[in-house]
Amino acid sequence: MLTKFNHVAIVVPNLDEASKKYRDILGANVSVVNNYKEHGVSVVFVELDNTKIELMHPYGENSPIKNFLEKNNNGAIHHICLEVKDIIKACDRLKSFGIRILGENKPKIGAHDKPVIFLHPKDFYGTLIELEQE
Ligand code: CO
Repeated sequence: MLTKFNHVAIVVPNLDEASKKYRDILGANVSVVNNYKEHGVSVVFVELDNTKIELMHPYGENSPIKNFLEKNNNGAIHHICLEVKDIIKACDRLKSFGIRILGENKPKIGAHDKPVIFLHPKDFYGTLIELEQE
C-alpha cells in the first residue's frame, strides 16, 4: 500500500530562525515562507534530494497546530507523510483493520493539493501519519 516517504513535518517556535538555521548551519536549500490560510499553517520547505522537511508554524487564530506548539514550545516533530497510490482504497483497508482516521473519516485536500488523511497516533505507536495520494 505504501510507496514513498514524502516529508517529515516539524513545528517550530520561530519560522525565520529555524529556516536560517537549516540554511546557514546545515547548508540546506530552504524555500520562502508559504502561508496556507485554509490549513492554518505557515510552511518553509527544506528541499533534499530524496525528500523534504516541512518547518511549520501556526497561521491565524484557529490553527490546528497551535496547541501542539503550546505543549512543545521548543518545537517537535509533528507528523510524517507517506505516499499511497489510491487514498480511497487505503482508507477502506485501514477502516477494515479498525484504524482510526482523524477528522471527517475521509480524504481532504492537503497543502500539496492532493488528497490526504491523517491516522490516529494512538494506532501507530505515538506517531501521527499523514497518507497522501501520489
Ligand atoms: Co504534511
